[in-house]
Amino acid sequence: MIIVKLGGSVFSDKAGEPENFREEAVRRIAREIGEFYPKESFIIVHGGGSFGHPYAKEYGIREGLLGLSEDTLFWRKKGFSLTHHAMLRASMKIVEAFLAEGLPAVSVSSSSIFLTDSNRVAYGDVEPIRKLVENGFIPSLFGDVAVDLEKGVDILSGDQIVTYLTKLFRPRKVIFLMSVDGIYDGKPGEGTLLFEIRSNEIENLIKRLAGSSGTDVTGGVINKLREAREIARFSEVWFVNGLVGGRLRGAIKGDGFGTRIVP
Ligand code: IPE
Repeated sequence: MIIVKLGGSVFSDKAGEPENFREEAVRRIAREIGEFYPKESFIIVHGGGSFGHPYAKEYGIREGLLGLSEDTLFWRKKGFSLTHHAMLRASMKIVEAFLAEGLPAVSVSSSSIFLTDSNRVAYGDVEPIRKLVENGFIPSLFGDVAVDLEKGVDILSGDQIVTYLTKLFRPRKVIFLMSVDGIYDGKPGEGTLLFEIRSNEIENLIKRLAGSSGTDVTGGVINKLREAREIARFSEVWFVNGLVGGRLRGAIKGDGFGTRIVP
């Protein structure tokens, strides 16, 4: 099994119009997966991109439901629903692109099967996913809103879902598709591309990146590295550019261009 995280900045331009979608890029990614499927099984987890993030931000979903006036409470709950619907629209587009390339992707709503607590998955009903894979489907999950045990609601990132699924399903490989060539020793896309990172070096790298580049630009990468350190205990991990043809294929084959986390 291989788990592919399709970053939001791959299937859409996060700085562009709301809900813009790079259909050709997703169809090419599906074709590269199609070169290995069904001999290899796959789970797709995609991010929010220009779909979920604008709503999540506008309605302050991460701030939860505690201590709100009745009006604000309703407003935030509405935002929860709207964020989820935006993610459903993203999921539909991705599944349609996979179907158009002859791959049986099936959308699985993360908020229907996961509960969160303190920024982690606290509960996950993953049996339907396991059975979908066993029956030759390609489950397609996504970063989503989630009911949170402590603060009422939160955002669950695709990266956290990947970590959770990795612990349970032990895929042989986890591949993060990004809009840059991999993990850099500096700001994303700048400085030296790291072809190999030992998992015991990740902590130092996180410290260096947090110190040198400010948390705003690297927040995403730092969080990814934290997840990668966890995932690397169970699986091979790759970070490759999902916007360049052949990079995913290379990571699947094992001779890819990008960053590989080694034990
Ligand atoms: C975010 O998921 C989901 C929502 C905003 C609802 P991710 O954090 O995995 O998304 P990307 O890959 O950064 O866009």
